[in-house]
Amino acid sequence: MCLRHGQRRIREPAALVLWLAVLLCAQAPSRAAAGEQLAGTQASSDWWKHAVFYEIYPRSFADTDGDGFGDLKGILSKIPYLRSLGVDAIWITPCFPSPQVDFGYDVSNYEDIDPVYGTLADLDALVSQGKQAGIRVILDLVLNHTSDRHPWFLDSRSSRGAKHRDWYVWHDGKDTRQPPNNWLSLFGGSAWSYDATTAQYYYHFFYPEQPDLNWRNPDVEAAMLDVTRWWYGRGIAGFRLDAVDVLFESPELTDNPVLPGTNKLGDPIEVDTYNRNLPENHRVLKDLRKVANDFGAVLVGETWTDDIAALKRYYGEHHDELQMPMDFMFTTVNRLSPPAFRKQIAAAEATGEWPVYLLGNHDMVRSYNRYGDGTHDDAIAKLMAAFYLTLRGTAIMYYGEEIGMQNNDPKVREDVKDPIGIKGWPKEKGRDGERTPMQWTDALNAGFTRDTPWLPIPASSVGHNVESESRDPGSLLSFYRNVLALRRSEPALREGAYHAINASDQDVMAYLRAAHDETILVALNMSDHRRRIQTDLHAHMRGPFHLLRLLSTPGATASGAAVSLPPFGVFLARVQRGS
Ligand code: NOJ
Repeated sequence: MCLRHGQRRIREPAALVLWLAVLLCAQAPSRAAAGEQLAGTQASSDWWKHAVFYEIYPRSFADTDGDGFGDLKGILSKIPYLRSLGVDAIWITPCFPSPQVDFGYDVSNYEDIDPVYGTLADLDALVSQGKQAGIRVILDLVLNHTSDRHPWFLDSRSSRGAKHRDWYVWHDGKDTRQPPNNWLSLFGGSAWSYDATTAQYYYHFFYPEQPDLNWRNPDVEAAMLDVTRWWYGRGIAGFRLDAVDVLFESPELTDNPVLPGTNKLGDPIEVDTYNRNLPENHRVLKDLRKVANDFGAVLVGETWTDDIAALKRYYGEHHDELQMPMDFMFTTVNRLSPPAFRKQIAAAEATGEWPVYLLGNHDMVRSYNRYGDGTHDDAIAKLMAAFYLTLRGTAIMYYGEEIGMQNNDPKVREDVKDPIGIKGWPKEKGRDGERTPMQWTDALNAGFTRDTPWLPIPASSVGHNVESESRDPGSLLSFYRNVLALRRSEPALREGAYHAINASDQDVMAYLRAAHDETILVALNMSDHRRRIQTDLHAHMRGPFHLLRLLSTPGATASGAAVSLPPFGVFLARVQRGS
């Protein structure tokens, strides 16, 4: 599992936000039309297919009690914003009681809310008010491990005969100084920690404070299935399932193969042959899905793989596992390269499944930095929004991408909060940079908190925030709103087939989305120079047609089947039959 991708270090914010001509919403649908559409999609059991999800890191979204950390009441207060943005569901990263070693991914009680985020009543309010606004709530379920403070582990480590002993993975070491084998933790060092009380090692794929559950024990599975039932009963629409590829380890404990060199944490480079992607994972996913089906819930998977066949397996041979396994291969294209993107999309399309591409999340450098060139960053962010939100599949936005939030990596080790950044400094700076507070206004602390925010807010928040971008029809936020509204109003964008066109062009990414006699052309100039392309449309359309502009950036024009695009320009049009 790779948590970080080809990073570019942060740059100074763009010097100024240009007031662009209002060319964007020639055909953008009204909010009323969007509301009708929302009601329509809500009734369907596969609502998630046509939905746009929005990932919220609750610690960083909105702080209402002034402690410097975001909270559930903060999310609740932003429902009107989420509604106006045009998203259909929010995924909240773990908000359960936790010692916060891994900021919530170390859960000490699966059936409550951490006091830093509020109460169960706050969550219930969020679910019910979200429902009224047409926004579903999904939570993040950490299945692979618990916190070392979870009562199950406290009992497990207390004696070899404890009731929960076999709920975790315990083994004798080679001796008291040597762990059972060479397996490494993703977060550094051996994946085994010695526990003197019972003179055995316990296994942890992540931090020592995150002991792995033993999924070979049926009681573990029964307990986790009950956790999901409990939350579904409270109105949760589904779960994002954390780290589903590492639930099982080979019982033989065979050493993993080791490659030459070391990683950013200074460990040998190991291939996770015996503790990752074991076939047993799929049995658990099937069981989770059966329960989810009883409640009409959706399962989204953190399914890291660079093998498209492995990704396809996560849907289940009979579509009985995850509805939404995330395609992280898309995030490996960290440059504006139409050929590289086409290749990823073609591979996903060839599976015949419903894609769930990713552009960013709380574990990777923000997309604004990964794709930006330091000069045209806002234009590139618009280009990537138009691209991501017009692909076939379910989209999952990461909070703040719609306003152009940038990574704000710590400058010195003393400031790092994420333990992998402390351990790996300076090669690995950790994930603080992509988790900074949401930028709401130009005011102090970007309107996130009245106290000191838990992570510093970058200077780029001035100008790149909800309040100022809402006032500017040419802003990135306005652009996102328009693309999201278009996606909602156009069936071809939600469910139409994807056809690459001009597929040998190195600069312009162009494709059609076609459904029910409606065809939409998407043309995106991924280069820094003007490009005029003669589209292949004649090969796809029978008879005469003309292009009717739906949305574009300034300077993008069409004439006949030709499209002219300024640097990083966007042009979306309906391909209308007739001359
Ligand atoms: C994946 C999560 O996205 C990441 O943030 C976390 O540290 C690990 N799983 C461990 O739960």
